[in-house]
Amino acid sequence: MDSSEEKTHNIPASGKQMLIGLHLGNGYGSQPGAWRMPGVDPKNYISFDARVKQAQAAERGKFQFIFLPDGPGAMLTDIETESPSFNLDVMLTLAAVARETERIGLVATGSTTFNEPYNLARQFKALDVMSHGRAGWNAVTSSGNDVAANYGRVIPSNEERYGRAHEVIQLIQALWGSWGKDAWVHDQETGQFAKKDQIVPVNLKGKYVGSRGPLYIPPSEQGQPIIFHAGGSPNAHELAGRFANAVIGAAFTIEDARAQRNAFRAAAKRYGRDPDEIKYIPGLMTTIAKDRRTALDRRIQLTGDLFPERVGYLQQMLGIPLDPTRLDEPLSKAQLAVARPSPYDPRSSHALKIAQEGWSLRDILAHGVIDYHPVIVGPGIEAADHMQAWFEAGAADGFWISPDVNTDGIDAFVDEVVPILQERGLFHQDYESKTLRGHLGAPEQYGIDPRV
Ligand SMILES: Cc1cc2nc3c(=O)[nH]c(=O)nc-3n(C[C@H](O)[C@H](O)[C@H](O)COP(=O)(O)O)c2cc1C
Repeated sequence: MDSSEEKTHNIPASGKQMLIGLHLGNGYGSQPGAWRMPGVDPKNYISFDARVKQAQAAERGKFQFIFLPDGPGAMLTDIETESPSFNLDVMLTLAAVARETERIGLVATGSTTFNEPYNLARQFKALDVMSHGRAGWNAVTSSGNDVAANYGRVIPSNEERYGRAHEVIQLIQALWGSWGKDAWVHDQETGQFAKKDQIVPVNLKGKYVGSRGPLYIPPSEQGQPIIFHAGGSPNAHELAGRFANAVIGAAFTIEDARAQRNAFRAAAKRYGRDPDEIKYIPGLMTTIAKDRRTALDRRIQLTGDLFPERVGYLQQMLGIPLDPTRLDEPLSKAQLAVARPSPYDPRSSHALKIAQEGWSLRDILAHGVIDYHPVIVGPGIEAADHMQAWFEAGAADGFWISPDVNTDGIDAFVDEVVPILQERGLFHQDYESKTLRGHLGAPEQYGIDPRV
């Protein structure tokens, strides 16, 4: 069998395969204790080399993109004991990664509320040119007052944030298209550098933002950056439905993920787009080890002293008092008999199911039942099964992966999960394209989308 046959060998009848992205936040991983794990350099917070290495590990696994969330200056953690959640600077990090990788897509959050559109347009298109067409912009409105405070402001109303976001994205896409696709001649013989009449001002002024332009940056190999969005509100559906090719999501159950995916697809349709143009990508957190016990022990090591504090959350989820001094005992029959999953917390049913399996209180928590996304704590096949089930149920077009500890957790996913997905025909064997647009199967676009 030659290699081209091998590549098409496992593609499912639907012809569809899932996308995989890597969450690259603070450089340590998704667990608060990651910076203290043996083998982890505690100074990775400021190490661009570490970020590059982690992105290279994801590229070895043929991930379609890395995703760097951002909320400038938001301190979501207690810095006394934990690292901040975000990168020092997402654009500088992606620039460093762009120079040391070849195929993987480079996606970062950029706030539509706290940035001037011209600055965002310039930075992301420059990154797109630098990376030869691999840039993606996660356009979010920012919802935290801790971010707003760094700009001397309070968070604007939802209406104002989303009103501005619609204008900012359109303006930025117009600026990206303001340097005509074929305007750059750079002919040394004739002396013509560019066709002046094809590089034209945009002269846009809306209720919130405006720009004259043009933006003096020629197209990249994918034309212009891809738009991502992250959020779940009806406003998010409308914004993403108009502009986004991918949505970074958060969902705890197949039913919720499917409903969210359908809402984004329906919104895209309302704007005259093909629903397949918008990929819904929920998160998945991973602790991959040879068996469940080893994975749980790794989680216990990572969680350190935080167990008693987490018991408080768990008792709200299960609606019963729990004793943080009895971490090594399973819940009693009497406790289980009265435990009820909280209707206000979508993680509760899963937490109860784990409790009913008879695990100790510590082990229940080590399953990640109060984490931000579904969590796999076990062998690679469990992650592959989860991803397959969601993908085949129409609940996801792919997943963004948050390993517990980046230093070895990305490699664990690449070595233990990716081959299973490939074997099952659910994930590609190699990159089919050189651009992020190509990886996502997003349609050609340069400048604004005339349909929306
Ligand atoms: C999976 C996911 C990732 C997100 N990433 C970011 C981020 O990187 N930066 C940010 O400021 N907000 C981020 N958000 C927040 C959303 O942009 C949005 O503000 C939030 O969902 C609240 O919705 P609202 O803006 O409609 O009130 C994220 C949300 C989700 C669901």
